[in-house]
Amino acid sequence: MSNISVKWHGHACFEIDMGKKVLVDPFITGNPKSDIKKEDIRPDVVIVTHGHSDHLGDAVELCLKNDATLVTMVELGWALQEKNEGLKVHTINYSGSVTVDGVHISSVLATHTSSLDGNYAGNPMGVIIGEKFKIYHAGDTGVFKDMELIRDLYNPDLSMLPIGGYFTMHVREAVYATSMLRSKYTIPMHYNTFDLIKSDPDLFKAEVEKNGYSEVIVAQVGKEIRFDESGRRLA
Ligand code: NI
Ligand code: MN
Repeated sequence: MSNISVKWHGHACFEIDMGKKVLVDPFITGNPKSDIKKEDIRPDVVIVTHGHSDHLGDAVELCLKNDATLVTMVELGWALQEKNEGLKVHTINYSGSVTVDGVHISSVLATHTSSLDGNYAGNPMGVIIGEKFKIYHAGDTGVFKDMELIRDLYNPDLSMLPIGGYFTMHVREAVYATSMLRSKYTIPMHYNTFDLIKSDPDLFKAEVEKNGYSEVIVAQVGKEIRFDESGRRLA
């Protein structure tokens, strides 16, 4: 395996290149913090953590246009398949894994809700992406004690955690989360997209690093962050 490249496109949207291009929660159209247009990106795999529009985003259109596979929770996957002919979907549920285009994806708990067009759409999830270098994208979630289980089972090298509050963890909860996860690196997400989710990533970084739980990378939208396969950050 080669190097891993991570790009934040604002909110919870990350583009991860691990040989194949993985796009998580592609809220691009209508995202005031996005640096790209949906036409700019050609994913192989699209992961959607739950049905809320700020996560589902352009997923269906991107999958259909690029012949990409959508990986999501069972109920949401079924609902999307029913509405969109030709959509390739791999459904998944907690503790389940799929390998799509050589990319290993496992589903983990997220304490949040999920809906699609106002209808209840099953449970939300977080994901573990990759087998050697492992990325935990928490989706939208509150803090929960089984993050210790995520560490025990998967030991992610990099965790992407919401810090915006209101719908998810804010700084205090996310700092606690890092104490359970102990990932080498943590990237805060899901903040400052809208006024409701104001947060301070530098405060988060200072609090986490004071305790030595993780090195926080305050990602800049559109700027590539690279790691080698042993999990070291490259310049
Ligand atoms: Ni949500
Ligand atoms: Mn959200």
